[in-house]
Amino acid sequence: MTVIEQDTPMITVIGLDGERLGEQAFAAIAEATCVAGAERHLDAVALPDGARRLPIRNLADALKELLAWEKGPAVVLASGDPGFFGIVRALREQGTDPRVLPAVSSVATAFARIGLPWDDAVVVSAHGRADQGRSARRALAAALAHPKAAILTAPGAAEPGAFLPDLLRADREVYVAQRLGTPDEAVTRVAKTADTEREWARPNVVLAVDPDRAIAPAMTWMPGHQGAPDGWALPEEGFEHRGAMITKSEVRAVALAHLAPRPGTVVWDIGAGSGSVAIECARFGAYAVAFEKNPGDCRRIRRNARAHGVVVDVHEGRAPEVLAEMAGRPAPDAIFFGGGDDAVVAAALRHHRPDRVVAALASVDRICPTRDALAAEGYTVSGTQLQASRLAGLPNGSLRLAAANPVTLVWGVRGGRPGGA
Ligand SMILES: C[S@@+](CC[C@H](N)C(=O)[O-])C[C@H]1O[C@@H](n2cnc3c(N)ncnc32)[C@H](O)[C@@H]1O
Repeated sequence: MTVIEQDTPMITVIGLDGERLGEQAFAAIAEATCVAGAERHLDAVALPDGARRLPIRNLADALKELLAWEKGPAVVLASGDPGFFGIVRALREQGTDPRVLPAVSSVATAFARIGLPWDDAVVVSAHGRADQGRSARRALAAALAHPKAAILTAPGAAEPGAFLPDLLRADREVYVAQRLGTPDEAVTRVAKTADTEREWARPNVVLAVDPDRAIAPAMTWMPGHQGAPDGWALPEEGFEHRGAMITKSEVRAVALAHLAPRPGTVVWDIGAGSGSVAIECARFGAYAVAFEKNPGDCRRIRRNARAHGVVVDVHEGRAPEVLAEMAGRPAPDAIFFGGGDDAVVAAALRHHRPDRVVAALASVDRICPTRDALAAEGYTVSGTQLQASRLAGLPNGSLRLAAANPVTLVWGVRGGRPGGA
């Protein structure tokens, strides 16, 4: 057995959660010649006389100074567990080998305050080094697709206000846990009618819980989304549907491959019929939105989604008009067109600009207009005709091939190779 010992670590990272520090942390601070951290963390501990106080305002600048420090051991103060969405990653990336003395993560504390287990929660960070808006959208999509979520918020585009309206609209119980472990800690349950644009004390974590699924039905073995579902391109019998109004399994398989649904993505299913495509996308962890003009089909989509244990946001109405309801809502990463006409495709692409588009066309007349509409919006376009002949039995027990109607799939990828990338 190898015991990892760090006799004289040059950098000790100490997590703070408002509780009293342990002996090791006190000793590390007493020996430190440089203590780095956010101002609020530096204010929370007594620094030794003569130690350099290094506020972390810009992470890159502070790290540079810290790594160049040669006058003795240094301490970095951080929130909660610094190995969980914290500074340990950045220090390691710089090639250092810090000693880490963690405290309780803000996520663990927030769930503890509302008395829920969190091993079945998806935890998403909306902190984005490059593109804050994109990080926030991805975090929201993952939270909307999962019954229990924690969002690590960030100043700017990822404040609680960026998440609350959609989470409340999706009937989640929503909490904003502010300044945990400090004297002015507050965990606020946000009412549906609340002013979602109000200012919240920082730092804060947003929790979103589907009250009907607050506890996973079975003990979870892996937090968050469980990965690819236990089956996909499911048979048509897996969905209640009206006549032949369902995208066939073979076609759905190829469509799903090009839609690339996964946690953090938003997929729209326009002309959703039974909702089979939206539901399969939701099973892969995407936030799925279905648009369907027929009220009976909308009810069926909701029943199918419930039967598959996923949530699909169903919008009843005729496209493209019904798409206007989505103004200000999470933008789609991918759109599937299962119904509608050329005007629907053109309008959706012009206003929503997803990265990926797939159209299933029964009419050959629509192949060229669909290709042209995608190309005109800058997509790299490809397509294939699918005609499956399934094995079927004859009365004498031998096999025949039962041909399904051919369907053409046309797909486009924004700026990329049509196969993906
Ligand atoms: C870079 S992450 C660090 C997470 C930290 N390592 C942890 O385990 O809590 C920063 C985010 O954590 C959350 N956070 C950290 N400390 C918090 C506190 N005391 N109260 C509420 N949220 C906190 C906020 O969402 C904040 O934007």
